Amino acid sequence: MANDEFAGRTALVTGGASGIGLATARLLAARGARVAVLDRVKPDFGDDDALRPVLADVTDDEAVRAAVGAAAEALGTGGLDVLVNNAGTGAAGTVEDNDDAEWHLVYDVNVVGIVRTTRAALPLLRAAAARHGQAAVVNTCSVAGIAGLPRRALYSATKGAVYALTLAMAADHVAEHIRVNCVTPGTADTPWVARLLDAAPDPVAERAALNARQPMGRLVTAEEVAAAIAYLASPLASATTGTALAVDGGMAGLRTRPR
Ligand SMILES: NC(=O)c1ccc[n+]([C@@H]2O[C@H](COP(=O)([O-])OP(=O)(O)OC[C@H]3O[C@@H](n4cnc5c(N)ncnc54)[C@H](O)[C@@H]3O)[C@@H](O)[C@H]2O)c1
Repeated sequence: MANDEFAGRTALVTGGASGIGLATARLLAARGARVAVLDRVKPDFGDDDALRPVLADVTDDEAVRAAVGAAAEALGTGGLDVLVNNAGTGAAGTVEDNDDAEWHLVYDVNVVGIVRTTRAALPLLRAAAARHGQAAVVNTCSVAGIAGLPRRALYSATKGAVYALTLAMAADHVAEHIRVNCVTPGTADTPWVARLLDAAPDPVAERAALNARQPMGRLVTAEEVAAAIAYLASPLASATTGTALAVDGGMAGLRTRPR
């Protein structure tokens, strides 16, 4: 059955050059949306010219404002139905391991980056809500924001902030018919995790440990996270705001015995 629930809608996905963001941009486009992708690197979409790239680092407010404006122009409606705040960066260690500069940098990308992009997009989201009755923001949070993982103090703190920000934004904009939700992925098989595995002393053992940590016994895929983001972004989810949707192979909620 054709699924074109985003026909006539526009979307902007940050961090859309890779992994979860790229899978999300492709899925929204496949379901009928006109999609722009904001990333700090120029994406390689191959022949997939349905996605319109705009370049910006989410730590640069001026660049974000310019890129959001350029995306709206490329999409050509004067509004934005969907904003996916997905750009993010990682950090490893306990509270002893990351210096102040790293704390500020990771917060700047993962938390203030969402603030900058949403702030720039809000007039466009309001315009879309006026035209279509609703608009949607979906933030990429993480299981690390709601469950304690070892050696992820800084990263987890930023994702906990993303969860709190999601709820606050949902409350602020509910009367404007702008829904705000987030996804909480478990460990997902993306280029990010591939880089982490490559850097591990024993990548095979590390992958096995990450698989075993998730009750399903495997990593989740970028496409599985994209499907959850698309659900929350969809006009069909019109009564859903202020929620966190887990896509974590059961990691946060289940207490299974080791296999
Ligand atoms: N992969 C996982 O296991 C996992 C689990 C939970 C949550 N997440 C979250 O999912 C999101 C995407 O991660 P991914 O695994 O797809 O990673 P990825 O590295 O494959 O993609 C991240 C993208 O974000 C872009 N980006 C990073 N910093 C940026 C910045 N300052 N400005 C603009 N763009 C920037 C990168 O260029 C890249 O294209 C992140 O927010 C991450 O925290 C990932």
